[in-house]
Amino acid sequence: MEILEGPDPLCRFYSQPHIGDLLVQAMPEVDVGSIIDLGAGGGVLSDAASRRWSKAAVTTVDIDADCAVARRALDTSGRRRHYVLDALDPDISAKVTRAGLFDAALCNPPFKKVEWRNGYERLLEEAGLEDSFSCQGDVTAEALFLAQNIRIVRPGGCIGLIVPDSFASGMKASKLRNNLARSHAISAVIQLPKGSFLRTEANSYLLVFENKVPPGSKIRLHRFTVEQGLSHPIEIDAELAERRLDYGFHSVEHTARQTTLRTLAAQIFRGSLSAKEGRAAEHFVFHTTDFANAEDGVFDGPDTPVTGQSALPGDILLARVDRDLESKIAMVRTGGFAVSDCVYVIRVAPQYRERVYRALRSASGREKLRSASRGLGARQLSKAELLAVPLY
Ligand SMILES: C[S@@+](CC[C@H](N)C(=O)[O-])C[C@H]1O[C@@H](n2cnc3c(N)ncnc32)[C@H](O)[C@@H]1O
Repeated sequence: MEILEGPDPLCRFYSQPHIGDLLVQAMPEVDVGSIIDLGAGGGVLSDAASRRWSKAAVTTVDIDADCAVARRALDTSGRRRHYVLDALDPDISAKVTRAGLFDAALCNPPFKKVEWRNGYERLLEEAGLEDSFSCQGDVTAEALFLAQNIRIVRPGGCIGLIVPDSFASGMKASKLRNNLARSHAISAVIQLPKGSFLRTEANSYLLVFENKVPPGSKIRLHRFTVEQGLSHPIEIDAELAERRLDYGFHSVEHTARQTTLRTLAAQIFRGSLSAKEGRAAEHFVFHTTDFANAEDGVFDGPDTPVTGQSALPGDILLARVDRDLESKIAMVRTGGFAVSDCVYVIRVAPQYRERVYRALRSASGREKLRSASRGLGARQLSKAELLAVPLY
């Protein structure tokens, strides 16, 4: 394989030992009697695997005849074998002396574009990844290593692969992520800090999946830092893998999905006068019909004697009962006045006002308000439902 660009064409950026242990610990409980490490370098990953599965036979492969694994003393127990080979050789199975497929694979491949070679189409095809790229020029070394691992590990075996940021979040890899997530049970994707590999600052991830096991449960996304260890997981559906697989992105989405008026400690109250009582009252009482006087959602009201139940500047008004309550949302710019019992006053801390107002008035906010309301004709929105509407 000719690897293009970069100072080291073999990308000999070796893993730090704790990254090997993290990868191995993230792999699922499966019976492991044999392990393969393609592009083994110094053997950090296969050493970590040997610590977890001490009786397993370990096969290492590296094209670099001078790599540290190749220079190790011969293993007399016969449990460790090393081959100086191109890991992307489509006939690799016949060249490493092992009958059958491996139970587990660990791999930290070079992150590079490759020059296309005959035989690569076979790797991709046999791994079910042939339609993952729009052109051959988009095929990366890590995708070919991924395909090779899928080919040489048994169905139900586990694969732990280190992948670059472009794999986890890049647009060009979206089809690859989709194909992977549709045919294999991805159990975890762990975002690593910079400095996890020697001599490079590349952003990378640990990807762990059970080979050819239909996706069932959700994919767990984590972030790992040396200081704080492994974060709590964010769980996403396999269909979301196509979009992205990075913890950073999904954690922002996740936090946004968790934000509601309740989590923002909003005060919500309504008036006590009916529309009829409001009309007869001495001072102005804001009713659902007054939303028509809010220009672009901004309402300038009169100054009336205020009570604990009055709407004040910065408050958000929302129809509580109305046929189209989701379209009746306004922010008070001036004044102080009572509201009818068909109108909610929503009061949030000043730093959240603008965002809450925009979230409620957005197309998706209105849709959520509508679906949270009940009734035929004039719909009603309960305070409990309003407090639970997601604000993103
Ligand atoms: C990023 S390093 C990883 C080394 C080791 N697995 C680790 O995690 O520390 C990539 C390794 O792949 C090897 N390599 C690159 N292209 C290869 C190929 N076509 N076949 C086999 N090994 C290759 C390099 O020599 C290097 O040791």
